[in-house]
Amino acid sequence: MAIPKLNVAMIGYKFMGKAHSNAYRQVARMMDPAAEPVMKLLVGRTPDALDAAAAQYGWQQTATDWRRAIRRKDIDIVDVCTANDTHMEIVLAALRAGKHVLCEKPLAMNTKQAARMAQAAVESGVKHMVNFNYRTCPAVALAKQLIAEGRIGRIFHWRACYLQDWIIDPDFPLVWRLDKHVAGSGSHGDLNAHIIDLALWLVGDIAEVSSAMETFVKERPLQAMTTGGLGAAAGDGRGPVTVDDAVISLARFRNGALGTFEATRFAAGRKNGWFFEINGDKGSVRFEFERMNELYFFDRTDPAHAQGFRTILATESIHPYLQAWWPPGHIIGYEHGFTHSVYNFLNAVARDTPPSPDFVEGARVNAVLDAMSKSAETRKWTAVPEIVITPLARV
Ligand SMILES: NC(=O)c1ccc[n+]([C@@H]2O[C@H](COP(=O)([O-])OP(=O)(O)OC[C@H]3O[C@@H](n4cnc5c(N)ncnc54)[C@H](O)[C@@H]3O)[C@@H](O)[C@H]2O)c1
Repeated sequence: MAIPKLNVAMIGYKFMGKAHSNAYRQVARMMDPAAEPVMKLLVGRTPDALDAAAAQYGWQQTATDWRRAIRRKDIDIVDVCTANDTHMEIVLAALRAGKHVLCEKPLAMNTKQAARMAQAAVESGVKHMVNFNYRTCPAVALAKQLIAEGRIGRIFHWRACYLQDWIIDPDFPLVWRLDKHVAGSGSHGDLNAHIIDLALWLVGDIAEVSSAMETFVKERPLQAMTTGGLGAAAGDGRGPVTVDDAVISLARFRNGALGTFEATRFAAGRKNGWFFEINGDKGSVRFEFERMNELYFFDRTDPAHAQGFRTILATESIHPYLQAWWPPGHIIGYEHGFTHSVYNFLNAVARDTPPSPDFVEGARVNAVLDAMSKSAETRKWTAVPEIVITPLARV
């Protein structure tokens, strides 16, 4: 039976634009979503590069005016893959136009923006989701399943690091990710946001935090990059780095668990190395992204002489998302997480069910990010405000 088609307009076409395009191309070929995405319209600012990207990724049409693109009657879903400073304006316009919205993380530059976006999204009645794609790595989703089944028991510890090293060179240019006005924050909103989302999802809400942040290289060259097109600021000389390079945090969860978070772009040798470990009274789970098909599980109910961390190769068809893919042991990669996220979003739209993480969950991540920033600034433990969004009563 034919499934409904949903026309997508995607704004931004570089790193995440490429990852999302691949997901839209794959999802209905490899999985069984309740609706099929049509790659209708790719939106960007530079016509030549935009047309080349559309041709390469398989988008039917291009447009350079996102405001008009969003208002088009034939568009069902708006996918926001642009830099962080644009998320709120684009998302609010898309919600006003009645479109379903998938937005890259972090949802917003700060909690105030994020709460406004979440409120507008809840009011609008459309489907809204933030692309915290690491939730949909099968081994991470398996950790969630084991926790829900009580296999870890009462959680004592959350321990997570997100480590990269791409800006250790002090002559690496001042790209948009190092500009507070465009990115909001540095490793914090970029990397820490992911492990904060996972902590909230796997362990629960965070009550208070204590953080330290550092910017190790305070000025960088302004000249435009010739190779990467990373949005470097143009000009001569050096300009100030206005975001954090690294952040470390302690956290108290509302359920009594303790957590630690570390995010940095200065961990020499670590390219995209992140992990979490959760310890409970019945056992532990550990996930390492560079071995993303595996979940490490320790079960205290195993006989004492046979206890030890076991490695679950999460590639069986009974593991989350894997029925769609390959025979056991035929591993999957980074890009599959995006396909799974898009799959979840399409199903939510087609079946009228709530997607997760929605904008309210996205705003909760922003609230933790802001509390950590405030704590680093004041050098004090800082409470995380609760984000509760309820639709306004209509009279
Ligand atoms: N989910 C993840 O793991 C993940 C990974 C990387 C980035 N991201 C997020 O995705 C978003 C984009 O990051 P990226 O790595 O793709 O960046 P990028 O620099 O590779 O691409 C950004 C895109 O946004 C476009 N853009 C910026 N401002 C615009 C505007 N005003 N109008 C139209 N287009 C505009 C740029 O032209 C470019 O196409 C960010 O919010 C980032 O935090 C998420």
